[in-house]
Amino acid sequence: MTGEPILDVRDLTVSHGGLIAVDDLSFQVGPRQIVGLIGPNGAGKTTCIDTLTGFTALKRGRILFLGQPIDGLPAHARARIGLVRTFQSLELFDDLSVRENLLVSASTPTWRSTLTDMFRAKPAVDRQVDAVLAQLDLTGLADRSPSSLSNGQRHLVALARALVARPKLLLLDEPAAGLDPAETNELKDLLRTLPEAGTSLLLVDHDMSLVLGVCDLIHVIDFGRLIASGPPAEIRTNPAVIAAYLGQEHQP
Ligand SMILES: Nc1ncnc2c1ncn2[C@@H]1O[C@H](COP(=O)(O)OP(=O)(O)OP(=O)(O)O)[C@@H](O)[C@H]1O
Ligand SMILES: [Mg+2]
Repeated sequence: MTGEPILDVRDLTVSHGGLIAVDDLSFQVGPRQIVGLIGPNGAGKTTCIDTLTGFTALKRGRILFLGQPIDGLPAHARARIGLVRTFQSLELFDDLSVRENLLVSASTPTWRSTLTDMFRAKPAVDRQVDAVLAQLDLTGLADRSPSSLSNGQRHLVALARALVARPKLLLLDEPAAGLDPAETNELKDLLRTLPEAGTSLLLVDHDMSLVLGVCDLIHVIDFGRLIASGPPAEIRTNPAVIAAYLGQEHQP
């Protein structure tokens, strides 16, 4: 990793009641990196994303984002400084159009952008939404309800909604779940473009072709504990990983 980490997770421990779901976990995500977090069902991946983004409280440990501790910040404040997530269950607003789903998470106008907008045909947030719709090939679906879309398209809308907030770090919880191989390949190509555009990624997914294909570095957890870290070529052949994860038939 070159440069200061975007995210620095130190000794993170999270419990659900008596169950330790994340156990003394430390890892970093660097600038322009795609980092994978994988592990069997129930390993603690979603709990980790929930905790990093402020939806679940931690029991012990530190979370530094851009060098600053964020443990005390609520979820919306973390999103505002650039730490944005998607949900395993997508959580789209089905009573809004695709465009409105994106507008909800577009950055709030500043006094400067409001002033500049007075001299433009379209406000900055609308241009931002249009740009992300075009980037993800969703322009033609902008006025549809998410409930009328295919599973693959709904996943893209969830990703678009996260991207419109211009995150510095995007945490993706199973973005390829239910996608067919062609859709997964398109997602792979898209994710690869994000770091250069200023968004680092923490990617959770069970699709090994996706994770091994796009990540610079992968961390593997089992029962909340880190069992291996390394580049895809090492993870693919790591015996502990094969035993804990790659060898098992996972339940999506
Ligand atoms: N709200 C909750 N209350 C109690 N236990 C929970 C809660 N959420 C998760 N757990 C438990 O915590 C552990 C970690 O769950 P988590 O959802 O983080 O795993 P995961 O790695 O995301 O799994 P999957 O691959 O199936 O999505 C599991 O044992 C799960 O049953
Ligand atoms: Mg999960």
